Amino acid sequence: MTDLSTMGGDADPKDLANPQPLYRLLREAGPAVDMGPADEGGLDSGSGDGLVIVGGNDDVRHVLAHPDVFSSGIDAVAIGQVRPLIPLQIDPPQHKHYRRLLDPIFAPRQVATLEDQTRALARGLIEPLVDQGGCQFHSSVAEPFPTTVFLQLLGLPVSRAREFIDLKDGIIRPPVKTSEERVAYTAEVGKEIYAVLQEAIDARMEERGEDFISLFLDAEVDGHRLTNDDVLDIGYLFFLAGLDTVTASLDCMLAYLAQHPEQRRRIVEDSTIIPQAIEEMLRWETPVQGIVRVTTQDTEIRGCPIAEGRVVAVMLGSANTDDDAWPDAHDVDFDRAENRHIAFGGGVHRCLGSHLARMELRVALEEWHRLIPEYSLPDGIELLYSQGLRSVDNLELVW
Ligand code: HEM
Repeated sequence: MTDLSTMGGDADPKDLANPQPLYRLLREAGPAVDMGPADEGGLDSGSGDGLVIVGGNDDVRHVLAHPDVFSSGIDAVAIGQVRPLIPLQIDPPQHKHYRRLLDPIFAPRQVATLEDQTRALARGLIEPLVDQGGCQFHSSVAEPFPTTVFLQLLGLPVSRAREFIDLKDGIIRPPVKTSEERVAYTAEVGKEIYAVLQEAIDARMEERGEDFISLFLDAEVDGHRLTNDDVLDIGYLFFLAGLDTVTASLDCMLAYLAQHPEQRRRIVEDSTIIPQAIEEMLRWETPVQGIVRVTTQDTEIRGCPIAEGRVVAVMLGSANTDDDAWPDAHDVDFDRAENRHIAFGGGVHRCLGSHLARMELRVALEEWHRLIPEYSLPDGIELLYSQGLRSVDNLELVW
């Protein structure tokens, strides 16, 4: 029997692989489910009070549309940062100043200029695998592909990718049990990330390059140049957002397709369906399962009170599979006519990197299915999905 307490604790691998029934259980439990203090068996929010979890489609969208009440400020989540991450932990109205600077560099036209080199990179990673008959997809493709794209854009050395991935994992998947341990561990890893970024900033202060850090050093927000700390705080967020999310999405998608040969065949037979398939798999798998906010005042969701200062986990995956909001929510339908999923979040903090992410996912799926159209999971394997950001470290494929 699926147990709701696994929503944030030590979850059963089966629930992590197929979280949709758990999301349904959450929605049935109420609009805002108070899990109580962690030391009384509730879920750990890092604040001691435990989490309030919101999972209904309308309720999730309500939270994201009201950043004045549900702030994404620095108290919402401890991930080793010493100042608010920019722009994620900056509330309106200041938030828009940073988005005005950042939006153009991630705009579709800008992203399109990266497609050829991204495709060459995907080919270079996949072609050598063709004759091998199998691979560990996570370490062979899902990790190196987006990591290389992103380190090049940011201006960090690709030769140190392994080190950076380990640092990112130290923040997103720290090997700890309690919230105190997590705060201490991520603070240490955070220092190393700041040091790596500072090293890159110092080098670009000497000589500018064709990369985001150089661009930020010359950028202005409201007539003011960004400070060294601003560039660090943007870089820190990019480091986490850019290195993990596309990896997790690729894992989720290939794991899904390997287990659903009829869907995989549709992609192989008609690659023009890939963009729609990506949107539907983003909805169904929702690789970023949930995001957090902290209440700035006493409030309520459909009659459920939430006190000021509570950490609210907003379950995007649940909103995306809510039977009340989606026709045939539990059917994975690549031909879905309308697909306004919120796998990239919603409201002012909606993902800055969504166009880049979509291009990377499309290119990777096109190249993979062109080169390796027939593949499946080895017999008997149990896929181990990580929690929160759903990567699959042991995703082995055979062909
Ligand atoms: C499929 C891949 C991706 C997924 C599923 C994803 C998901 C998300 C989600 C759910 C949020 C909202 C966070 C919140 O409101 O608390 C977000 C924000 C953000 N994402 Fe992504 N992301 C992806 C790829 C990327 C990439 C490649 C970048 C590269 C820079 C990126 C940069 C950001 C940034 C900077 C924000 C914060 C925006 C703001 O606060 O205004 N993301 N992303």
